Amino acid sequence: MRNILGIGAGYVGGPTMAVIADQCPEHKVTVVDINHAKIDAWNSDQLPIFEPGLDDLIQRVRGRNLFFTTDVEQAIREADIIFVSVNTPTKTYGEGAGLAADLQFWEKTARQIREFSSESKIVVEKSTVPVRTAVAMERILNDKDSDLHFDVLSCPEFLAEGTAIRDLEEPDRVLIGGRHETESGRAAMQTLHDIFAHWVPPERILHSNVWSAELSKLASNAFLAQRVSSINAISAICEKTQADISEVSRAIGLDQRIGSRFLNASVGFGGSCFKKDLLNLVYLCRFYGLEEAAEYWMWVVKFNEYQMNRFVDRILRKMFNTINGKRIVLFGFAFKANTGDTRESPAIHVTHRLLEERAEVVITDPRAIPNARKDLQGCNATFCEDPYEAVQGAHAIAVMTEWDLYRQLDYQRIYDAMEKPAFVFDGRNILDHQGLFEMGFHVFPIGKQALSHFSNR
Ligand code: NAD
Ligand code: UDX
Repeated sequence: MRNILGIGAGYVGGPTMAVIADQCPEHKVTVVDINHAKIDAWNSDQLPIFEPGLDDLIQRVRGRNLFFTTDVEQAIREADIIFVSVNTPTKTYGEGAGLAADLQFWEKTARQIREFSSESKIVVEKSTVPVRTAVAMERILNDKDSDLHFDVLSCPEFLAEGTAIRDLEEPDRVLIGGRHETESGRAAMQTLHDIFAHWVPPERILHSNVWSAELSKLASNAFLAQRVSSINAISAICEKTQADISEVSRAIGLDQRIGSRFLNASVGFGGSCFKKDLLNLVYLCRFYGLEEAAEYWMWVVKFNEYQMNRFVDRILRKMFNTINGKRIVLFGFAFKANTGDTRESPAIHVTHRLLEERAEVVITDPRAIPNARKDLQGCNATFCEDPYEAVQGAHAIAVMTEWDLYRQLDYQRIYDAMEKPAFVFDGRNILDHQGLFEMGFHVFPIGKQALSHFSNR
């Protein structure tokens, strides 16, 4: 039996450690966080995050071999292996502000591990960090005046929110980066390998050097984000040419070299990772004097901003160039479906721009209203759980999140409750556009021809 510790009980740390506990019942898994309210929530029936399947999983393992605590000192003292999943946000101050990763939480954690350890341990980077962060960690942890030895491994987390439990239980791959060149490095990699081998087929557990593992995480998110920006760039030209983005996505996705997933045009990508990790990659490229590589990745971010702005510009233009005093209802505020997370959600940017135009913005979402309230503190937006209530007297609906719920609503009832002309701007292409048009709506999808009663006259 081993004592496994997870430091950081957020979107990654909580679900990851819960799955390890579930799959490795012989090990004791502890999760610590400095945020007492979060730990209280993990120990209650109201978990701090929403993820499909998470409630059942926690019920199964909490108190059996999974424990949540704020006692960092004792947890570190007891641990053999420590997974670090603390936040690494974009730096907001000093050198690299607005681009580089802020590693203060990571470094504080490393110092705590050194301070409270009385035995050698394996330390695993789960957080997304700049390539070569492990060197700094090794230097902080392996104090020359101490007999203790810490092996630092990189094991980046590839889960996506909304599907976190499935992604953890059936990962495409687990990547373990370590120091092959030392005996203790090889042993540490094997120990981590053995944990994942409880449920992950061996051919999906990859070994690499530490730097490749660290960089693979940034590269993976950069590729995924680039894919969304690429399809969104094609959506813009579709709107000008009567090509249809769904038909184009299908046609290109059937090329096995391209593949069909992650080709949904949208109002833009959000989430806590894509922008942050792209900016970090840009910073690293500049740091190493690779200006062209930096510019290449910067364009993925810039294009995403353009796509979000394009969405709002279209609302404004189609609604006769003024939305002052018009009630616009956002269907969804989460950055994607099946999560309550709103970090970097396109809905935040869209709301600010609509408010600048003095629209009356009403927000509805099945899970994200508590976070939306925090994001929009001091802004003049209103929140409404019930979409039918939200649309009373509305001039337009803007679909921001692809929740299934929005496909299933009674749109005739919604149409009847709205001001006319009634507009729908479908930022996720999830609605039945022809059906809505036939009811009388003016419909503006992404990357498809608008269905407007005006243009048909
Ligand atoms: P989060 O903000 O939800 O959670 C981080 C937690 O770490 C917080 O609860 C914070 O209180 C805690 N923490 C900070 N310093 C601490 C310390 N010294 N001791 C104990 N706890 C401490 O962040 P997250 O979304 O879980 O992301 C964590 C890391 O994982 C980031 O590097 C992120 O880039 C990466 N990542 C995130 C996702 C995702 O989908 N959210 C996916 C893959 C990787
Ligand atoms: C991402 C990575 O997918 C995951 O591997 C990594 O560990 C963390 O970052 P996440 O941000 O949770 O995960 O969600 P993801 O499904 O990647 O979506 C990110 C954003 O892109 C969302 O706003 C989503 O709506 C958008 N998106 C995704 C599109 O607009 N179109 C698509 O086809 C796919």
